[in-house]
Amino acid sequence: MKDFSIEVHGAHTYDATGAISEPIYLSATFRHPGFKKSTGYDYGRVANPTRDELESALTLLERGGRTWAMSSGMAAINIVFMLLSAGDHIVFSNDLYGGTVRLANEVYAKYGIEATYVDTSDLAAVKNALRPTTKLIYIETPSNPMMIISDIRALADLAHESGALLAVDNTFLSPHFQKPLPLGADIVLHSGTKYLCGHNDVIAGFLTVRDAESRLAECIQRLVVSSGPNLSTMDAWLMLRSLKTLGVRVERQAATAKKIAEWLGTQKHVTQVFYPGLENHPGYELQCRQATGFGGMVSFKVRSAELAQAVLGRLKLIAFAESLGGVESLLTYPKVQTHAEMPEELMKATGLDDKLLRLSVGLEDAEDLIEDLEQALNQ
Ligand SMILES: Cc1ncc(COP(=O)(O)O)c(C=O)c1O
Repeated sequence: MKDFSIEVHGAHTYDATGAISEPIYLSATFRHPGFKKSTGYDYGRVANPTRDELESALTLLERGGRTWAMSSGMAAINIVFMLLSAGDHIVFSNDLYGGTVRLANEVYAKYGIEATYVDTSDLAAVKNALRPTTKLIYIETPSNPMMIISDIRALADLAHESGALLAVDNTFLSPHFQKPLPLGADIVLHSGTKYLCGHNDVIAGFLTVRDAESRLAECIQRLVVSSGPNLSTMDAWLMLRSLKTLGVRVERQAATAKKIAEWLGTQKHVTQVFYPGLENHPGYELQCRQATGFGGMVSFKVRSAELAQAVLGRLKLIAFAESLGGVESLLTYPKVQTHAEMPEELMKATGLDDKLLRLSVGLEDAEDLIEDLEQALNQ
């Protein structure tokens, strides 16, 4: 089945009533028919029918084998890191969501897990960073917020040659535009709070692996059951509802983002635009090969930090807020918001500075968004 159909129907198995909308099973526990007998559901931390439907839909969309729906993107990332042991080493993209870096550097470093940050669009740099103890290569592509594109297939090959796993944070594109598992990644994860939710009203996360019967799937299942990061039933239902419109939302968001990126490129106070859908973006060709769209995120630099900060206060339609992927357009100031705790040397390496703004394009009219940016940039 094609993505639009999967997004609407998922793996929906109708119950006896024939309900078109998946029922919300608000039960924390389930009655056993008899000793050593189960309906397939015993206790909500282990499985819930509404959450199961959502997980099955994501598995189909990612062309994977098994998915876990979690209470946040960070909960999903935490499970990935929990797969490692003291002495293991991770190679990370040097441009990443700041919370991921904080979890690795503040929490997992304490448990003896080492990390190296490199430009993962540079395969030689990744190769150089690999150690005999490297167990994980972890990337975002496009990366947050500098929109760097990394080669998923080549990195999967590198990881596998050295006995490591490749995990891809697919938050910026959603499975509608990019499917890392068929390209060779072992784990794909999301902040479901973003495009998968799409309405800025649920915090959620997802982890998907290729093979439901693998040792990796078994390990993740043990970690999930043991630590309990699951998504609540009500939120699972909201996410199922959101998924139905994923494709129509992200395709329109990407079309508007391209218009805005092109317009920003003509503005006298804008010094750089980072959008992988622009032909002059260094990752443009790779992005065309490994994804079917460019997404709705546009980062750009203005001529001074003072102007960047003034723009945030002048916005009328676009909201100055963290997060991304929703129907409402948001402008973020990464240096003091999403990436505030990023080590200075990483920001220097990627060019993340106080002149950078990150726009998450919503579903408003493109002309209205451009008009808002124009008045904010040129007052
Ligand atoms: C790319 C990316 N990954 C992961 C996360 C963490 O997700 P959550 O906020 O749902 O915990 C975020 C949050 O902004 C993000 O932007």
